[in-house]
Amino acid sequence: MSTSKRILSGIKPSGDLNIGGYAGALSQFVKFQHEFESFFFVPDLHAVTVAQDPKELHQRSREIAAYYVAAGIDPEKSTIFLQSQVPAHAELGWIMETQAHFGELNRMTQFKEKSDGKEGVSASLFTYPALMASDILLYQATHVPVGEDQTQHLELTRDLANRFNSRFGQTFIVPEAIVQDIGCRVMGLDDPHKKMSKSNPNQASYILMLDEPAAIRKKFSRAVTDSDGQVRYDWESKPAVSNLIELYSLFAEVSTEDVERRFDGQGYGAFKKELAEVVIAKLQPIQQRFHEIVNSPELDEILKRGARKANEEAGKTLLAAKKAMGFVTFD
Ligand code: TRP
Repeated sequence: MSTSKRILSGIKPSGDLNIGGYAGALSQFVKFQHEFESFFFVPDLHAVTVAQDPKELHQRSREIAAYYVAAGIDPEKSTIFLQSQVPAHAELGWIMETQAHFGELNRMTQFKEKSDGKEGVSASLFTYPALMASDILLYQATHVPVGEDQTQHLELTRDLANRFNSRFGQTFIVPEAIVQDIGCRVMGLDDPHKKMSKSNPNQASYILMLDEPAAIRKKFSRAVTDSDGQVRYDWESKPAVSNLIELYSLFAEVSTEDVERRFDGQGYGAFKKELAEVVIAKLQPIQQRFHEIVNSPELDEILKRGARKANEEAGKTLLAAKKAMGFVTFD
């Protein structure tokens, strides 16, 4: 198994998931599980690098796990688990902190953005990338699907793996990033230059995974377009329309050319109406399954089984790393 292709990725339980997260991460995970031995986890230890309400953290962590299953990640095939149920993450995270240089962490743009102008920034927000490296290296992942905002963290992970391997002997696989392409990047419905995000105060700018059909129809009907009236895929001159075409293409699983052809000569009204229906059709079964399992013993079982498997895998790597460093171990 150790020579097979392995993937690891996770979605932070820090906010409601929108369809951008579905397109860019979740739906990709579902596909990857057929090509790779897969580990999908809920990075709850990462979530607490900024203050979290305990009840919300609890519920959101279950929700991300429920989305994994509801979207089609097969818990028989893939390992689904919560990071906080695998202590090796924190332990190797510490070890990674001993390998990472202060200056390296200080160059991370995400830290700069997230800490900028804030008071009481936690030390963990600064060391976050070392924990992320641990997440990945523990499972000897060969590939890690990430959004563009995470590529710098992945580069650091590679550097840390190489550094450790050259100091202490071959221990970690050096993972490759799989960066989502433009086709998976969903922009706001009010502004095609900003990523779709729940932090946008304009609620019509994003569609949440749990939005009701009526809300979805309304939001698409309000989505910005342009004055040229043609459903044509051209990010340069028609970014807003191209974003909608891409959403249609992702949710209906047809090519962007097909979308252009289908709506040739029709106005934006008809296009947006059908786009709403395509998104609703895809989300409905996911929503249904989500509600069925999110607070169920079935999900508990999946997560317990996942944690067992994850602990086993992670434990092996952690032991090897500790031995290599010279810690006294008794097995
Ligand atoms: N840092 C990632 C994010 O903010 C989440 C994450 C934590 C992650 N550990 C990971 C993603 C390991 C991929 C692999 O989106």
